[in-house]
Amino acid sequence: MKKRFWLLGLFLAVLVVAAGVLLIPNPVGQQVLAEAKSMGYLPYSPEEATTLAYSRCTTCHEAGKILQYCSRCGPPFVVVSHSMRKYIELNNLESETIKNFTDAELIAITQVWNALIGNWESNWRQKDIKRLLQNDHALIRFAETPLEGRPIEAALMHKSAPGSYKEIHGFGR
Ligand code: HEC
Repeated sequence: MKKRFWLLGLFLAVLVVAAGVLLIPNPVGQQVLAEAKSMGYLPYSPEEATTLAYSRCTTCHEAGKILQYCSRCGPPFVVVSHSMRKYIELNNLESETIKNFTDAELIAITQVWNALIGNWESNWRQKDIKRLLQNDHALIRFAETPLEGRPIEAALMHKSAPGSYKEIHGFGR
């Protein structure tokens, strides 16, 4: 009987520690939450997605390359995101120096740039966007998603990135 109580006590202690790791801000808990978000188990807030976009997209070039991108420069950001994912994969063939994007990360990041710089997906034929996305199924599904299914983009679409010329293309009409 005594032993059972002891085990119950131990179980409760483990539970309390596990809850503490997740609920009280601390490095381990933050790592666990960041991991859960990158796997798509938990959503990114618009602010977290913005921080992620600026940090992960400026490892090879400055933010300026992104801020100056425009509808005359090339295809919409969903396609740019796919190309950058490919660059990283090529880059990592020899040794993994840059973390590959997970689908959830890239979808969150694409929404941020769409909102802050411009979304001209509607200027393009879906067929052409899909062709450019090759077999990137996560981004193809994202390209088919209307604004209602893009909470980060919807939340940020009335903002703009400092240093960019924001393009308004009436996405969602
Ligand atoms: C692995 C390194 C790497 C990372 C990480 C990276 N880029 Fe790039 N990016 C490049 C290279 C190399 C070029 C130049 C090649 C080109 O213009 O085709 C480039 C060019 C660009 C351009 C200009 C394209 C054009 O046609 O003018 C944009 C916009 C861009 N990147 C956006 C992003 C975004 C958004 C992210 C984050 C999702 C990102 N980059 C992350 C390597 C990277």
